[in-house]
Order: sequence, then structure tokens, then C-alpha cells
Amino acid sequence: MNTLRDMQIVTTAKILRALGKSGYGCRLIEATGSTRVGAATLGLMLGYRRSFRTLGEAERAVKPYGKGGHESTANVDLHIGFSVRLSDYAAFYYLRDRVLHIQKVFDLGGNVGNLFYCYRNYVPLRTDIRWIVYDLPETIARGEALASSRNITNLQFTDDFRQIDGADLFVASGSLHYFDKSVPELLSHVGRLPQYVLINRTPLTEGQDFAVVQDGGHIRVACMLYNRSKLIADFGRLGYQVVGEWESPDFRVPVLDRPSSSVGAFTGLWLELR
Ligand SMILES: C[S@@+](CC[C@H](N)C(=O)[O-])C[C@H]1O[C@@H](n2cnc3c(N)ncnc32)[C@H](O)[C@@H]1O
Repeated sequence: MNTLRDMQIVTTAKILRALGKSGYGCRLIEATGSTRVGAATLGLMLGYRRSFRTLGEAERAVKPYGKGGHESTANVDLHIGFSVRLSDYAAFYYLRDRVLHIQKVFDLGGNVGNLFYCYRNYVPLRTDIRWIVYDLPETIARGEALASSRNITNLQFTDDFRQIDGADLFVASGSLHYFDKSVPELLSHVGRLPQYVLINRTPLTEGQDFAVVQDGGHIRVACMLYNRSKLIADFGRLGYQVVGEWESPDFRVPVLDRPSSSVGAFTGLWLELR
């Protein structure tokens, strides 16, 4: 990592973020970005904090500056310590009446199983539930060690999407935006579709899909901003209807070189097969 370059990017990001919050500043940045020279200058100044067409481009740009990304020890430790968050209550509302029909859960980006540990305190999960977390190798290893130290057998880990087959509930909580395949695309390969889908804490855009880098302080990671209408229409084509939708205003993503596309609140969705 080039420390000086990183300091310059962080400073530029701070200035543009503050500027983009005012109407005048927002118009100034958008106008600058609408010219070829302006867009190139913004891109150069912002480095990995500019917007990208694809998740892959954003991932490559942030890699040297990512502080270990999702699998860093600090990030996994943070997840082990997580308790309930505001947007989880919306999920409990829909889960509550359906929980008896949910025996297998596929939890995309489920980290060490923090949702399993949290949800079982709020919703009467079945005693024979199989809660399967899909995550990255280092995180899976930490999750397995934690589950074993707690004598938990209902929580399992996988790196295989084929485990989606037969799930009653598919969860993508705080994770849909880290995958370059959107959830409907993942589900389109599944033999038996899950009856229920829970999407929580995900940034959606009204415009075209694009990618940015989130700077969480302890880590920096690339994320997609998927188009809301297209996502819902893609679910619809698989036979899902949106039963509930909510906002998480405690999570937001600034888009520094296109401030009018910034996401001021993340979205939650509960979907069911018709
Ligand atoms: C913000 S955390 C969400 C954790 C949990 N689901 C929650 O709601 O608290 C995002 C998770 O997605 C995982 N993730 C990101 N990219 C991934 C990938 N390509 N493959 C597997 N897991 C990934 C990360 O490791 C991390 O555990």
C-alpha cells in the first residue's frame, strides 16, 4: 500500500463527502463529473473511492488498501460481538408466523453465524433447524471453531451454493451487495426454490447497477449497488412476490463522484413464492 496516496484519497473523500451533502456542492460535483476531463480528474483524485462499473473493478482497485477485507481478524471479531440491530426486528416480524415451516436455512454471507446466534433469542426456531452459512474460507474456519466451542450442531458452514437446494428460507443479510451474481441469479440454478427469502441491510439504487468501495474504518470492501426495480422484477420472474419492505436508515453508502446517487438508507425485503 502507498501510504501517501492513501492519505490523499482519504482526504479527498472527506472533502467530497462534506461538499456533496449540500445542494450546491452536489450540483458542482455532478457538473464536474459530466465532462470527460472533470470525470477523469475526479476518478484520479478518488482512486479506489470512485464509482466503478463492476464489482470486480472495485475489488481490484481497493485490494492494496482493503486492510484484509471481509476476512480480517478485526472484522470477524466484530461479527462475533454483534447483537440485535434495528432492521432485524422487521425480519422477526415476518419470521415469527412462519418459523415452524422453516427447517433448513441458507445464510449467504452469514459470517460466523451471528444471525443464528441472535435470531434464536428472539424467534422460536425449530429444534431440528439446519442453519447453513455460506462465507469465505477464513470466516468459515472461525465460525466452525466458535460453534464447536459452544457445542452448537444446528449451525453448519459451506462454500457450496448447491446447499441452497432444499432450503426453506434463503437469507442475504448485509451481504447481497458483496456478490457479483445477484440473488435471483443464484436462485435460478436451484432445483427446489426456498419458499421464503429475506434480504436485509442492502443498498439499492434507482439507476443502473454500479459498484463503489465502502470504507468501514477497520476494513474497506467493494460493494454493488443493484437496481431496485430490476432486482424485484428478477425475483418476480422466479415466482416471488414482495410481502414486506423496510428501510435501515442507520446504514448508508455515499457515492463520492455522483452524490445524487448516494444511498441514504439500506433496504430490507421479505419475499415469498406465490
Ligand atoms: C456485513 S457482513 C454480514 C454478516 C451477517 N449476515 C449480518 O447480517 O450481520 C457481510 C458478509 O459477507 C461475506 N462475504 C462477502 N463477500 C463474500 C464472498 N465473495 N463469498 C462469501 N462470503 C462473502 C463476508 O465475509 C461477511 O461475512
